[in-house]
Amino acid sequence: MNLVAPDSMSDPLVGSAARLAVAEPIVEILSAEKVFANGFRGLAPIDLAVGRGEFVSLIGPSGCGKSTLLKLIANLIEPSDGKILWWRGAFDDVGKDGRQLAFVFQEPTLMPWARVARNVRLPLDFLRVPRAEAEQRVQTALAQVDLLPAARSYPRQLSGGMKMRVSIARAMVTEPDLLLMDEPFGALDEFTRNRLDEDLVRLSWERQLTTVFVTHSIYEAVFLSSRIVVMAANPGRVFTEFTVDEPFPRDENFRDSERFASLCRDLSSVLTEASFASRKVSA
Ligand SMILES: Nc1ncnc2c1ncn2[C@@H]1O[C@H](COP(=O)(O)OP(=O)(O)OP(=O)(O)O)[C@@H](O)[C@H]1O
Ligand SMILES: [Mg+2]
Repeated sequence: MNLVAPDSMSDPLVGSAARLAVAEPIVEILSAEKVFANGFRGLAPIDLAVGRGEFVSLIGPSGCGKSTLLKLIANLIEPSDGKILWWRGAFDDVGKDGRQLAFVFQEPTLMPWARVARNVRLPLDFLRVPRAEAEQRVQTALAQVDLLPAARSYPRQLSGGMKMRVSIARAMVTEPDLLLMDEPFGALDEFTRNRLDEDLVRLSWERQLTTVFVTHSIYEAVFLSSRIVVMAANPGRVFTEFTVDEPFPRDENFRDSERFASLCRDLSSVLTEASFASRKVSA
C-alpha cells in the first residue's frame, strides 16, 4: 500500500498534485466544492482525478460528503465553485459512444410491477435500443450476475442480494464506461456482500470499467479498489489516499491473505485519524 500523507501533515499542493496525476483521466474534479442552499458547506474544494480502468473507493465517517461527491460526479448536482470534467470535457458528451455513465444506488429501486428482465431493459428503452438487441443485451447482463433463471420473476420474489444483482445488471446492460456506486451492498449480510464484491471485481476487470464506489466497509474497500480515497468531515474533504498494489482479478485467496489483513489494519488506523480530524475541526 502506498500511503500519501494525511492532509494535516502534508503540503496541500503536493497532495493535490498526487490526486490529479493519473493517466488518461475519465473524471477530473478541479477544486469543486459544494455549499447547499441552506448555507451548509458539504464539501470543501476537492481535487481528484480518476483514470481509465481505476477502481476508486470513497470511504470516511458518516456525513463527510461521499454521496455528495458521487452525485457531483454523476452530474445529479452541480458544484458551487470549481468544475468537473468528464473525458476531459463538459457533461454534454456523456452518453455518447465510449462515454456511458451508470449509477447504482444503495436501494435497488426496482419497478415492483415489472419482471426482472423488464426492469433490466428499462435504460435501453430510454435509449431507444431496438427491441431484439435490447433483449439480447438483457440476457447477457443477467447471465453476468447469475440471474438468468430469475428473468421472469417479480422483484417481490427475490432476496435482497438478488434484487441488488438486478440493479447491477440494469447498470451493466448499458455497457457503462464509468460506473458510480453508492454503498450498493450496505444492507446485505457479509456472505452475500463478499459474493457480490467478487462478481463486481470480475466484471469490472473483464470490462475494464472505471468505477467510483462509496463504502463504509474497510474490507470491501481493500478487496475491490486499486485506490482508496479517505475523506474527513467538517468540512467534507479528501483526507488522504492509498494505492492498493495488488493485481486484478482478485478472489477469495486475496481476502484470506496476510497481506489483505495488513492492508485492512493500515486503512483502519487511517480511518481513525480521519474520524478524529473530523471532530477536531468541528470543535
Ligand atoms: N441537500 C442538502 N442540503 C443541506 N445539507 C445537505 C444536503 N445533502 C447533504 N447534506 C449534508 O452534507 C453532508 C454530507 O452529506 P453526504 O450525504 O454526502 O454524506 P455521506 O458521507 O454520504 O454520509 P453517509 O456515510 O452517512 O451516507 C451531511 O452533513 C449532510 O447532512
Ligand atoms: Mg452517503
